[in-house]
Amino acid sequence: MTADEVQRWTAAIQAYLPEERPLTLLDLGSGTGRLTPGLAEEFGGPVYGVEPSDRMREIAEDAAAHPRVTYRPGSAEEIPLPDASVDGVLMFLSFHHFRDQLKALQEVRRVLKPEGAAFLRSQFADLMPDLFWYDYFPSAREVDAAMYRTLDECKALAEAAGLRPAEGPVWVSAEQPRTLREAHDRLELRALSTFEHLPEAEIEQGFARLAVDVEQEPDKVMPVHPAAILVLRRPS
Ligand SMILES: C[S@@+](CC[C@H](N)C(=O)[O-])C[C@H]1O[C@@H](n2cnc3c(N)ncnc32)[C@H](O)[C@@H]1O
Repeated sequence: MTADEVQRWTAAIQAYLPEERPLTLLDLGSGTGRLTPGLAEEFGGPVYGVEPSDRMREIAEDAAAHPRVTYRPGSAEEIPLPDASVDGVLMFLSFHHFRDQLKALQEVRRVLKPEGAAFLRSQFADLMPDLFWYDYFPSAREVDAAMYRTLDECKALAEAAGLRPAEGPVWVSAEQPRTLREAHDRLELRALSTFEHLPEAEIEQGFARLAVDVEQEPDKVMPVHPAAILVLRRPS
């Protein structure tokens, strides 16, 4: 993720948080810290990156260190922070990994200050984008949709956890346009969990077809799909 993309994401959530600075933020499932230092830059910090994987935290501590960011071992189901201690919580593509999503949202409610906001950046099964590469991997669309809950299911879970969901999602176009070759190179890393669920033969055939098209039109600019964020507020 480029610095501009990080800035566009943090700017998108800024409107739902208090204007005062500094604010305390939690990046829940912070991974390698792609966004965590950006939160400290935008909101002042401290920012806590909570992440269960030692390996991911090590990478974040090496590559995404920041004086106002602390990475902590822990999980969404047991957040290692006190009650009512943060102004905002970002769950960036981590929610679908949580073992117990209701417990996680109850924990999010616990650590949020009254009127604090949580940001659920996820795919939603009923709002799946029409990604170009689904054409190359015929099962991918279905695999992706099965990984995610619908928007209404997420809202119901949030309400059950004592959080107030916004009516609709906020749509953010933070990604910069990429060429077909750049998109191919990113896909080839197989960082997306989708590929873990596809048959190897389908993956090989898909990449072979994609390679042919990349050779023909490497610089074709691919569409950017706006991404949905569901805003959840802790009532006072
Ligand atoms: C797709 S990555 C996203 C990481 C980061 N938010 C980003 O966008 O770069 C999902 C992350 O969720 C983490 N995760 C998995 N289970 C979790 C849990 N129960 N609580 C918190 N994080 C979890 C994974 O270890 C992984 O780092």
